[in-house]
Amino acid sequence: MRGLGLLLVIQVIMALDITRKDDSNDNYSIGPAIRKFPENVKFGVATAAFQIEGGWNAADKSPSIWDVFCQKPGNVIDNTTGDVACNSYEYYKRDVQMVKFLGVDFYRFSISWSRVLPNGFDNKISTDGMNYYNNLINELLQNGIEPVVTMFHWDLPQRLQDLGGWANPLIVDWFGAYARVLYTLFGDRVKTWITVNEPKQFGIFGYGMKRFAPGINATGIGEYMAVKNILLAHAKAWHIYDKEFRAEQKGICGITIATDFREGIPNSPDDVEPGEIAMDFEVGLYSHPIFTDKGGFPPRVIKRIAERSAEQGFAKSRLPELSDEEIKYIKGTSDFYGFNHYSTKFITTEGYQPGKYPIPSYEDDIGAVGTYLDYERGAVIHCTVIPKGIRKALKWVKENCNNPPIMITENGFGTYKGLDDKKRIAYYQKYLNSILDAMELDGCNVTQYTAWSLMDNFEWDSGLR
Ligand SMILES: *[C@@H]1O[C@H](CO)[C@@H](O)[C@H](O)[C@H]1NC(C)=O
Ligand SMILES: *[C@@H]1O[C@H](CO)[C@@H](O)[C@H](O)[C@H]1NC(C)=O
Ligand SMILES: *[C@@H]1O[C@H](CO)[C@@H](O)[C@H](O)[C@H]1NC(C)=O
Ligand SMILES: *[C@@H]1O[C@H](CO)[C@@H](O)[C@H](O)[C@H]1NC(C)=O
Repeated sequence: MRGLGLLLVIQVIMALDITRKDDSNDNYSIGPAIRKFPENVKFGVATAAFQIEGGWNAADKSPSIWDVFCQKPGNVIDNTTGDVACNSYEYYKRDVQMVKFLGVDFYRFSISWSRVLPNGFDNKISTDGMNYYNNLINELLQNGIEPVVTMFHWDLPQRLQDLGGWANPLIVDWFGAYARVLYTLFGDRVKTWITVNEPKQFGIFGYGMKRFAPGINATGIGEYMAVKNILLAHAKAWHIYDKEFRAEQKGICGITIATDFREGIPNSPDDVEPGEIAMDFEVGLYSHPIFTDKGGFPPRVIKRIAERSAEQGFAKSRLPELSDEEIKYIKGTSDFYGFNHYSTKFITTEGYQPGKYPIPSYEDDIGAVGTYLDYERGAVIHCTVIPKGIRKALKWVKENCNNPPIMITENGFGTYKGLDDKKRIAYYQKYLNSILDAMELDGCNVTQYTAWSLMDNFEWDSGLR
């Protein structure tokens, strides 16, 4: 899947040449006035280990769940794998030169757990794995680029999956131990840590559906087991940083949440509340426990899953409870709101019939359907071009998450192969304009912007097309 044209970034970031029109429509026209981001907003580009590294069995690396998932034909649309991908395992210096050429401030990349800890556990650190990331980090710093590091971008060691993966509560300790290894090895040079990337995507798609590795498909059950453990594991990694490393290393640590926007179908009063509920499920499930004063899962989500579970004959809600102690442990554990955003889905309950989705399931718990209406599509549907949605999503975060500093950690537009980037350029111009609206008109505290991605790469279940 196409990532991001080089020329494009230069055009967009170096000369954001657009005029704000009134925000009542989606038309932003290119004009003479230049809107500028404040000097202190940093720009960068991002990747994830599995999508670019290749070297899937280099040295003593053990397989990740994505290695195993891709190698089974039928799981990825074109049956391609991440075995080689962009071969960044070999060509990391090329990557750094590309980032340098773009002239951006930072590079967000992720670390492959099973490359650093081949057993999944902290009893053995791979020398080759450690050297690889040391070399990458040093090369970035020597070229004046700040490393921003994601600890977990979906490629769980298969060995830990064999023990239940994110469905096993012990993963909270496994992840904590992994995080401690990373802070110890790299924290002298890495000052921005992202614990986990997009809990919804690997929790719901991986455990409650078959779409992503590990493809457990325990619908309505597995995803909620994963959600609880992901939140506790994230919190553990943050507490370890806060207690054991922060004073000396002086960095920041937080979570990245997929914050695509959800709202009711326009001009349909009946769909306003379903739109809000969908937002509670898709984003609030992860943000409410961390960023609100009250903590815990969002009340409407708790209520709905409890009601549905009772109707379905479960003695207890399928959404695991968080104890008072766990609520307290998770609350406040992010130094920033890591914000990934691509598009907006419009929600309606009209025509929704129980049985449309498996019972029980996450989608049935939401109890509505989503549509992108007739906005312009990208090659992946979740890149449908709805620029105003990013402003609304940023405002939602400001209002529902205690006005945190927001690091936009991903935003971008996927296309198929080819060098014609006009649509991507237009997407970036419109979305950056809308972000400026969120900052200037709504007072959202955006501190960083990250374009996804540095280069064309392996797009998970959509493969390499
Ligand atoms: C955007 O501009 C085009 C061309 O000027 C116009 O046809 C269209 O109606 C406008 N869209 C909106 C939502 O105003
Ligand atoms: C991928 O593999 C599956 C299972 O073997 C097969 O049915 C499908 O046709 C293959 N798809 C492509 C694009 O090769
Ligand atoms: C996933 O499980 C549900 C039952 O909960 C079933 O209806 C569905 O077909 C399964 N999906 C796949 C792809 O196996
Ligand atoms: C935005 O966040 C940064 C980083 O935490 C903080 O230093 C700054 O004071 C915040 N700005 C506003 C206006 O709240």
